[in-house]
Amino acid sequence: MVFRKKISLLTIAVALAATVPAFAIEAPKKVSVDAPHAWMNKKLSPEQRANLVLKEMTIDEKLKLLMGYFGHDADWKEFKRPVESYPQSAGFFYGIPRLGIPNIWEADAGIGVASQSGPIVREATALPSGIATAATWDLKTAYEGGAMIGSESRSFGFNVQLAGGVNIMREPRNGRNFEYAGEDPLLAGQIVGAQIRGIQSNQIVSTLKHYAFNDQETGRFSLDVKIDDQSARMSDLLALQIAKEEGNPGSVMCAYNRVNGVYACESDYLLNEVLKKDWGFKGWVMSDWGATHSTTQAANNGLDQQSGIPFDHSEYFGGALKEAVQNGWVSEARFDDMVRRVLHAMFEFGVIDNPVSPNPGAINFKAHAAVTQKDAEESMVLLKNDNKLLPLNKTAKKIAIIGSHADVGVLSGGGSSQVYPVGGAAFKGGPSVFPGPMLYYPSSPLKAIQARVPQASVTYHDGSDLAAAAKLAAESDVVLVFANQWTAESIDVPNLSLPDNQDALVDAVAKANAKTVVVLQTGGPVLMPWLGSVGAAVEAWYPGTQGGEAIARVLFGEVNPSGHLPATFPASESQLPRPVLDGYPEVRNARFTVEYKEGAAVGYKWFDLKGLKPLFPFGHGLSYTEFAFSNLKADVKKGLINASFTVKNTGSLAGKEVAQVYVAPVTAKWESPKRLGGFQKVELKAGASKTASVVVDPRLVGVYETASKTWKIAEGDYKIILAADATDANASSVIVHLGAMTLDVNGKFIQ
Ligand code: BGC
Repeated sequence: MVFRKKISLLTIAVALAATVPAFAIEAPKKVSVDAPHAWMNKKLSPEQRANLVLKEMTIDEKLKLLMGYFGHDADWKEFKRPVESYPQSAGFFYGIPRLGIPNIWEADAGIGVASQSGPIVREATALPSGIATAATWDLKTAYEGGAMIGSESRSFGFNVQLAGGVNIMREPRNGRNFEYAGEDPLLAGQIVGAQIRGIQSNQIVSTLKHYAFNDQETGRFSLDVKIDDQSARMSDLLALQIAKEEGNPGSVMCAYNRVNGVYACESDYLLNEVLKKDWGFKGWVMSDWGATHSTTQAANNGLDQQSGIPFDHSEYFGGALKEAVQNGWVSEARFDDMVRRVLHAMFEFGVIDNPVSPNPGAINFKAHAAVTQKDAEESMVLLKNDNKLLPLNKTAKKIAIIGSHADVGVLSGGGSSQVYPVGGAAFKGGPSVFPGPMLYYPSSPLKAIQARVPQASVTYHDGSDLAAAAKLAAESDVVLVFANQWTAESIDVPNLSLPDNQDALVDAVAKANAKTVVVLQTGGPVLMPWLGSVGAAVEAWYPGTQGGEAIARVLFGEVNPSGHLPATFPASESQLPRPVLDGYPEVRNARFTVEYKEGAAVGYKWFDLKGLKPLFPFGHGLSYTEFAFSNLKADVKKGLINASFTVKNTGSLAGKEVAQVYVAPVTAKWESPKRLGGFQKVELKAGASKTASVVVDPRLVGVYETASKTWKIAEGDYKIILAADATDANASSVIVHLGAMTLDVNGKFIQ
């Protein structure tokens, strides 16, 4: 084991000199390397173990854990990655071998083990996008996906996975919505929390990111979000708080943007007050790559670790931090706290007890394919299905498949989270530099469809020639048009329309053949001007490395679709709180403000408040069978609302329904008419029924009060609504009465 190895002091000094050249090296304190280190006693708490190591560390050793490097050469800064890092990886920190503290190897991101683009990518399994997993409304699926990618992360030799993206969707044009989990704090927080737990079940650390309010990419390095504390705690921060509670991440990554005038990575409010003090976070805060802007201010305001040298202007947590500590600008107690937090998480999650060593050969790609495929199948949302056009009839003789390279593969989102598929991409396009390339995973919808109807003639057309595509459509029994929207980190989409003339393509095809099914692969909501003329539409998101197979299974009814939208699909951009995207098109380094005037009324809450009719509401999702809800009952036990109900499958096929419980105050004043209070995905055979129940998190019935740092539940009546989506006309409801109650900042009853 690493910590028992005999290492000469000379070797250590040479290694240290090579790795940390910016300041003088202190002689390490003497530690017997033969005896097991006291901190390797697993009976001690992570806190005790971290303290024991800390006592032995020199200032230079401490600094090593606080400043890390990009795991990829950056020509623009004449930077070469440390040789000990993994090629084309996200990050690296030197450990302290003499104390048994391993190096930290960091990989992006939320859908699998990513690679920076270049010649040496690691080929891995990709889950469907984060928003797709949120569309499953299924915590078990989210956990299993996390466990799968965490195991690949370990097999590739990474001990920190930069996952856990949960910036709620305030901005449907945000280029990173595909990495996140939609617009609702409860759904997003629980899904991402489950994924983090899954990742960390592999004895590695996962992050939770991007803390906080990095809700658009345009101007992400310079914009300043204005939001009041109450609205913040009831929206974006609530999603992060729930994900933190459910997932217990070892690390939190602070964001690029400013919040109320201060950079997120040096915000005393965000880091010290909310995250560490109020929420009791014990792990470490790492900066996003290029998000550290100072030494003393950042360290004192709660940043524990600077990531990704050379992205920042300076090595703020290198020699400058050493000097700040020696001068007393950063106290020794705070300096130790920074290191202790890193060590604490490394002990708590098994990074030190079960060190990683790369063994990619051990990855069971076949088993992992089943995990990603299940996630994709659970995530697909049947948006529309007139006259039961779907599932497809296997007797069709001529099937046309049009557009989106559906002959070879399925689309994935771009940027640092890009996973490279096993066997290489089926098609590569997009920008040649970051956030490109645009990759299609080699899971061909065409092949998967053809395999199911060997007798039929299945013809592909790329969709570039509208007249030819329409002609093919007219000659076919059924038409599958694949329409897509590539989104990527660092760039937002200019509007919610499908790019590249695809609306005209769908329109032309649908006019030629009413039996047109649109399969969408998008990062988030898009407009659908052609919706009225197509027979059916399926939102397949970015469906991951088994996407083609999953799409075919849903289209042919081998899987009954059960995904529901985790975000509102607006009817037009004019319905949004900010009809025009602030700061777009981006002027590099231009400072501007994005004012969240909608406060906590995000997504369906905004649409409810303003009485707007979306294209598709939050929670929407059809099935090949039908469901009925009945028997809704709600009572209050120890202050908590329990709602129980019966779900019946009234159709003739097995399927899954997502029962959604919303809460609405009768007299109390909230930011919007109602909130999602709980949900249950229920699986039912044809004709079967089940009773299910949810307990509503009391924060979702309260209003956060800044002065007292408590959640106040107002005395009065509350409507408990059982619905199939946020605008369900058939929703049933009952009333419960609540007495006045106060909860602490974390939602625990105090009165
Ligand atoms: C992204 C992070 C990512 C990091 C490392 C940044 O640009 O915002 O999400 O983890 O790069 O690649």
